[in-house]
Amino acid sequence: MATAENWIPNRFQGSVALVVGGAQGIGRAIAARLAREAADVVIADVDRAMMARAVEEIGSSGGSARGIFCNVLQPRSVRKMVDEATRWKGRIDILMYVAGIGKAMPYLKMDEKDWDATVDTNLKGAFLVSRAVVPQMVERRRGKLVFMASTNSWDAEAELAPYNASKAGLFLLAKTLARELGHCGINSNAVGPGLIRTRLTAPLLKSRKFMKKYENLIPLGRVGEPEDIAGPATFLASRDADYVNGVLLFVDGGQLA
Ligand SMILES: NC(=O)c1ccc[n+]([C@@H]2O[C@H](COP(=O)([O-])OP(=O)(O)OC[C@H]3O[C@@H](n4cnc5c(N)ncnc54)[C@H](O)[C@@H]3O)[C@@H](O)[C@H]2O)c1
Repeated sequence: MATAENWIPNRFQGSVALVVGGAQGIGRAIAARLAREAADVVIADVDRAMMARAVEEIGSSGGSARGIFCNVLQPRSVRKMVDEATRWKGRIDILMYVAGIGKAMPYLKMDEKDWDATVDTNLKGAFLVSRAVVPQMVERRRGKLVFMASTNSWDAEAELAPYNASKAGLFLLAKTLARELGHCGINSNAVGPGLIRTRLTAPLLKSRKFMKKYENLIPLGRVGEPEDIAGPATFLASRDADYVNGVLLFVDGGQLA
């Protein structure tokens, strides 16, 4: 099992990484891994308290991190955050777009507000942030974009229409940027986690009925941990992935095998 002990010394020395949605869960594990491997890390999140804890945790283990408030639903907040993040070390080399929400709801009970909240956080937010970060990457002809998609980008789950649609859209956004920006030295890829133990999935993991169904779907026979995603996601941000562009890397214990 991937643990916080798996890491590659100094892999991201000299790189500045922006992890949007990095205050907890998968984003937090990615931010910790990047910092441990010597990146300067900006955590941007709407949850100030969890963000402060994540930054403090990185700092106390000798890493370089700072937190900047951002609500990805608000274009002004995104622009302000990206400006501030860029000013910190003069640039952003790696963008990890991890912010996301999802709430199960029968299609016939869903209204426009429910749809917009999920699609705007998961997909429009990725557009707003990458649109603000990419110009400086184009200028330097260097950059890595990693978008947190899902197995739901490929396999639909009932009662998750806006989540499924947003995650499918996020994969196609990653692919579009791979096509459009590859010639500018920018790689754009997506990660597709399966079932990972975080706040988002806590209610599901508590449901015996759900777990009974799910356990049989995962050939590796266990639920993933945030650290299981940190390794593959940071690989996509590393020089080892210089020729990887436009993929969706599923990290799901074989669920989609
Ligand atoms: N946990 C899983 O099983 C799983 C599976 C597949 C994909 N994912 C995806 O991985 C990503 C992280 O999920 P997680 O499980 O770690 O969830 P999480 O709830 O633990 O973390 C999500 C983070 O995004 C932040 N966020 C939410 N709305 C925001 C906003 N408007 N502006 C800024 N930040 C915002 C939250 O504050 C939180 O820190 C999500 O995009 C999720 O869809 C998770």
